[in-house]
Amino acid sequence: MSAFALSPENAAKFQALLERYPEKSSLMLPSLWMVQYQEGWISPEAMQFLAKKLECSAMDVYSVASFYTMFNLKPVGKVHIQLCKTLSCMLRGSGAMQAHIENRLGIKPGQTTNDGKFTFSLVECLGSCGTAPCMSYNDDYVENLTIETLDTLIDKELSCK
Ligand code: FES
Repeated sequence: MSAFALSPENAAKFQALLERYPEKSSLMLPSLWMVQYQEGWISPEAMQFLAKKLECSAMDVYSVASFYTMFNLKPVGKVHIQLCKTLSCMLRGSGAMQAHIENRLGIKPGQTTNDGKFTFSLVECLGSCGTAPCMSYNDDYVENLTIETLDTLIDKELSCK
């Protein structure tokens, strides 16, 4: 198992946070975000690293990281499209959005394009049912999603080197 380490900048941030929380496990979510922003995903090595730092077991870290779909437990593409598959979005056309994404990118849910640009996932309710259909596009929410919006976003990314 290869070693994981925070970047010097993140290590300093982590240390500063540690000093603010008497209970180290309270840092679980901020720590997981820090790792994900640094690496793009949470590797088993990173979980071991956090377990040591937070004085808990790697299973404790895994149980939190695996509970939330916002944490990636395997590498993802530069853009992670997470389309809501729950009822309100389904009733408002998420099926057509899914078919369009699959068609445009040539991948199914859970897959990454060969060029590493896109990963596509289906997720449960994103809490934006009133503006369904909804997806997250990396850190952005895209509400009232349409085929045109999808094409605009995908075309923009594909035009980037
Ligand atoms: S059902 Fe899609 S955001 Fe709630």
